[in-house]
Amino acid sequence: MLNIVLFGPPGSGKGTQSEKIIEKYGLVHISTGDLLREEVAAKTDLGMQAKEIMDKGELVSDSIVIGMIRNKLEEHRDASGFIFDGFPRTVEQARELRKALTDYDQSVSLMISLEVPREELVKRLLKRGEETGRSDDNLETIGNRIDVYNRQTIPVTYYYDKMHKHASVDGTGSIDAIFDRITEVISKVQI
Ligand code: AP5
Ligand code: MG
Repeated sequence: MLNIVLFGPPGSGKGTQSEKIIEKYGLVHISTGDLLREEVAAKTDLGMQAKEIMDKGELVSDSIVIGMIRNKLEEHRDASGFIFDGFPRTVEQARELRKALTDYDQSVSLMISLEVPREELVKRLLKRGEETGRSDDNLETIGNRIDVYNRQTIPVTYYYDKMHKHASVDGTGSIDAIFDRITEVISKVQI
């Protein structure tokens, strides 16, 4: 099985590249951001709590997102692999993912981090904010999302570094050029 963690700051292209990866490798896509936005849209209790946190650009609690991940793993027991997009975002989430996958005799194959400079992230997200109205794509929240990433999420890279499972990929340029770089690093772990 191929289990990929697609990692990177807000606007680095995790969602965009996930679509191409699932098409090529037939993986199940799990984006904690998308799952949370579904809860917000359905106006569930969890969604109402999460919206306030997401609109500030802070992280939703580890226990909530880990619960969502466990549900998805159970729902797709027969998947040929997963792509985790925007998860894990804390070292605690990375540890819990390891435990959850172990229950299915699985592990993370590779963590790919997309590297994009801050100015480019802000530019992409402001543009999307104008086009789609995503509520956390405004200048103030974008700034905080990037700060939260640098403070709370970057340590996850060290967790996978220690296991020799971390590959950095240049996330600038055309979507296809970035995808080529991603397939190259995946080809090195495929058995
Ligand atoms: P989440 O939904 O994960 O958002 P994010 O990490 O901020 O990232 P984005 O979805 O904005 O960007 P992306 O990297 O997917 O890029 P995309 O492909 O869309 O999280 C949202 C919130 O939910 C968090 O702030 C937090 O509150 C909460 N949350 C989620 N997961 C959590 C967790 N695990 N723990 C706790 N809280 C959690 O691209 C961005 C834009 O750029 C698009 O418009 C795209 O078309 C464009 N673009 C893509 N590639 C290129 C390119 N090569 N050139 C030019 N433009 C490009
Ligand atoms: Mg995304």
